[in-house]
Amino acid sequence: MSSINYAEKIPNNVNLVSDRTLQRALEHWQPHFLEWWKTMGPSDFQAADVYLRTAISVDAQGWAHYGAVKMPDYRWGIFLADPLPGRTIGFGDQMGEPAWQQVPGEYRSTLRRLIVTQGDTEPASVEQQRLLGHTCPSLYDLRNLFQVNVEEGRHLWAMVYLLHAYFGRDGREEAEELLARHSGDADKPRILTTFNEPISDWLSFYCFTYFTDRDGKYQLKSLAESAFDPLSRTCRFMLTEEAHHMFVGETGIGRVVKRTLEVMKELGTEDPARVRAAGAVDLPTLQKYLNFWCSSSLDLFGSEISSNSAANFAHGLKGRPDESQYEDHVLREKTMALLTPEGEQQVPMLNALNEVMRESYLKDCEIGLKRWNRQIERAGFPFRLTLPSSRFRRSIGAWAGQPVDPQGTMLSKKEYEKRLPDWIPSEADRAFVHSLQQKVVAPGKMAAWIAPPERGINNLPVEYEYVKLH
Ligand SMILES: [Fe+2]
Ligand SMILES: [Fe+2]
Repeated sequence: MSSINYAEKIPNNVNLVSDRTLQRALEHWQPHFLEWWKTMGPSDFQAADVYLRTAISVDAQGWAHYGAVKMPDYRWGIFLADPLPGRTIGFGDQMGEPAWQQVPGEYRSTLRRLIVTQGDTEPASVEQQRLLGHTCPSLYDLRNLFQVNVEEGRHLWAMVYLLHAYFGRDGREEAEELLARHSGDADKPRILTTFNEPISDWLSFYCFTYFTDRDGKYQLKSLAESAFDPLSRTCRFMLTEEAHHMFVGETGIGRVVKRTLEVMKELGTEDPARVRAAGAVDLPTLQKYLNFWCSSSLDLFGSEISSNSAANFAHGLKGRPDESQYEDHVLREKTMALLTPEGEQQVPMLNALNEVMRESYLKDCEIGLKRWNRQIERAGFPFRLTLPSSRFRRSIGAWAGQPVDPQGTMLSKKEYEKRLPDWIPSEADRAFVHSLQQKVVAPGKMAAWIAPPERGINNLPVEYEYVKLH
């Protein structure tokens, strides 16, 4: 088991001291990162003591240490999962050959682009969420927000390490650029659209951690299959952190549903206006938020038909999530039927891998939906939450800009535009959700629109003072 060296300036389990040049380069980047954290990270809470977990080793059992930390003192570092002895390439045309410990020259720019694109999302989400602390529904939630934020900061470190260690000068320049682009910036936005959408309320935060962090899970899973072994090991450890982010989303939405159902029962009505008047999020509004964030996240998988995805797979750079569960790992013979606005097309499987990933992602998204719908069913109400069709509101791929409703039916452009405010949050819906966002920071107290969690963090009670504000 590789333990993490915390005695050094940059905690790591990659024996950083043995490479002075790399160590110096990263120590040079470190103050730039801290400067970014102070100016673009959570606003105003830098002096608070936050009950955070920090990795102490990378094995599945005991990697987390919990304790009160001021966020700027969080020990961001470089942690890779342990190497698998004799690991070979698990898919593509070079299947069975030894995994690469260095970047092959012919794949250098593609691998760099994959790493930069992944790396860009990590600080972007911190920027998107930077004002949320001011309207936290409880100290428990505030702590979870900050936990997610510091870990996204660490994910940036993970990608920057790869850029510095394996991509020379270009890599160092890309590492600087990762701090120079900012979410929503008119001149230098983040690379992917979803990461430029503002997250200005906690319902959006829960949806983001449910849908968009889950896209992160799928991207990391496919990169964890990569023939480039350092990338694989980095992503494998990141996945253990990512699980908590999706937990925050799933339980967050579950608690909103729970509170809404309590109000509906008290009032004996499903009437959205009366639910709202009682200070809870009505279920149709929640459905709109799900539609918005799910459709936005579906674009992150890219075009249905993609020559990039074919090349990345064939070359061993990016596999399918859980590649070992499939039988055929080369895919030169297979095709897939894809539905496009022009009708069904048979596409070489290699070119349809974005769609394969999107489908397994949507299946994973269903799990929470089932749980929330069971809550609604048990409360005796007929309403059911659903996922939108993967053809709805797409900006990328075969369905981009097509007037399709959340059930996947093609409409006229006019009808679509008229009905869109019924499907995604309108200005009025957003204003209503914003009106609920009141900061609650008494230990154990919750905002009126969300139920308390079932349990606290690390076996502590829900009333624990997870953030000491001073
Ligand atoms: Fe992340
Ligand atoms: Fe995440």
